[in-house]
Amino acid sequence: MKGKVVIVTGAASGIGEATALLFGREGAKVVVSDINSEAGQEVVNRIEKNGGKASFFKADVASAAENKALVDFAVKTYGKLDIAVNNAGIGGEANKIVDMSLEGWHRVIDVNLHSIFYGMKYQIEAMLRNGQGSVINIASILGSVGFEGSAGYVAAKHAAVGMTRTAAIEYSSQKIRVNAVGPAFIDTPLLDQLDDEVKNQLISLHPIGRLGRSEEVAELILWLGSDKASFATGSYYPIDGGYLAR
Ligand SMILES: NC(=O)c1ccc[n+]([C@@H]2O[C@H](COP(=O)([O-])OP(=O)(O)OC[C@H]3O[C@@H](n4cnc5c(N)ncnc54)[C@H](O)[C@@H]3O)[C@@H](O)[C@H]2O)c1
Repeated sequence: MKGKVVIVTGAASGIGEATALLFGREGAKVVVSDINSEAGQEVVNRIEKNGGKASFFKADVASAAENKALVDFAVKTYGKLDIAVNNAGIGGEANKIVDMSLEGWHRVIDVNLHSIFYGMKYQIEAMLRNGQGSVINIASILGSVGFEGSAGYVAAKHAAVGMTRTAAIEYSSQKIRVNAVGPAFIDTPLLDQLDDEVKNQLISLHPIGRLGRSEEVAELILWLGSDKASFATGSYYPIDGGYLAR
C-alpha cells in the first residue's frame, strides 16, 4: 500500500475503523471520513501513533456536495486518489413494510444507497485523472437475500451490488476496478440496538457459530484495494461465516 491514497467513509467505527487502521498499517495515506468528528480524529491519531499517515475529513455521505468535497480534499492533501471504500451506512428503521415510515424508508436509501452513487461519481472521476483505481462498496449478505423488518436496507444493499457491477462494466477498461463486499452479521456498534436473545438468534444463522469481526472484513477490503486483486472486478464477495451457504 506504500504510496497509495485511500478514502474510507464511516471510518470512525466498526468495519470502517478496522479498514482505515489496516490500510494505515500497510503504508497507505488514509483519509478517514465520518460524521462523527471526535471518533474519526481518534482513528487518525491511532494510525499516526502506529507510524502511518492519515487525515480526518467530516462528510455526510448522504450529501452529493460533501462526497465531492471529500474527494477534493483527498486529492488536494495527497495529490491523487487510488482507492475508495464506500462503507458508511445505517441499520435503519426496523419495521415490516406496512409499518415502515416514509421517513425511515427515505433515510436508509439516502445513507446506504444514494451515498454509493455520489461517492463513485466523484471518486471515479478523480481515479480517471489518476489513470487507475479501485472502489470497494460495502454491501451486505443482504445484498443477495432478504431479511424481515429491513426492506429499505435490503433494497439499498441489493441496489449497491447492481451499481457496483455496472460501474465495473463502465470503467474496468480504464483500469478502475469496482467490487462489492457482503459481510454477514459483524459484531460492531451497528448491532448495539439488538438485545442478547436476538444476537444469539443471529449467531445461529452462521454455520461458523459466531458473528464476524471487523478486522476479518477489513482483510478482504485490503486485498480488493491492492494490486494483488488485479483481475478482480465487477464482483460481489460475501464474507459471512457460511450464512449464505444454507
Ligand atoms: N455490522 C454488520 O453486521 C454489518 C453487516 C453487513 C454490512 N454492514 C455494513 O457495513 C458498513 C459499516 O457498518 P458497521 O457495522 O461498521 O457500522 P458502525 O455503526 O459501527 O459504523 C458506521 C459508521 O458510519 C458513520 N455514519 C453513519 N451515517 C453516516 C453518514 N450519513 N455519513 C457519514 N458517516 C456516517 C457512523 O458515524 C459510524 O462511524 C455499513 O454499510 C453496514 O451496512 C454491516
